[in-house]
Amino acid sequence: MKKKMEKALNKQVNAEMYSSYLYLAMESYFQSISLPGCAKWMRAQVQEEMFHAMKIYDYVHERGGKMQFEAIAKPETEWDSPLVAFEHILEHEEKVTKLINDLIDVALDVRDHAAKAFLDWFITEQVEEEATVGGIVDRLRLIGDGSSGLFMLDSELAKRVFTLPVK
Ligand code: FEO
Repeated sequence: MKKKMEKALNKQVNAEMYSSYLYLAMESYFQSISLPGCAKWMRAQVQEEMFHAMKIYDYVHERGGKMQFEAIAKPETEWDSPLVAFEHILEHEEKVTKLINDLIDVALDVRDHAAKAFLDWFITEQVEEEATVGGIVDRLRLIGDGSSGLFMLDSELAKRVFTLPVK
């Protein structure tokens, strides 16, 4: 694998680890405001992002590359409301989508079609993530200040469990 590709994939592992850390901070935030369902949803998100990081990590090694370890940035830890937190996720996931698109540009630039094929999985994943989070943001906007709607949504989000995707 070309060094440029290896470096770009390395950066993405860090970005996915950061996502995991950010969602862990959100889990803690939701615990602190007594919304256990949202907290549980975040825990699944933490695991999913770690899975993304490890999927890229394994791929780097599969291609004979090596990981570089950099510091993981400190995430925000407080949000003004559940809506603000989920809006933050949506914005964050849109940024991640851009990062994946940039990675594909690198793969095409160095004519690494195997990496491009590998990264296509993440493109589909990002479409799903943005759609799911966008749906929750819409629901929270509709709920507004109504606490009964919020508790209903919280119980619904409590049902989420992370299952390891089949490779
Ligand atoms: Fe790893 Fe939420 O994208």
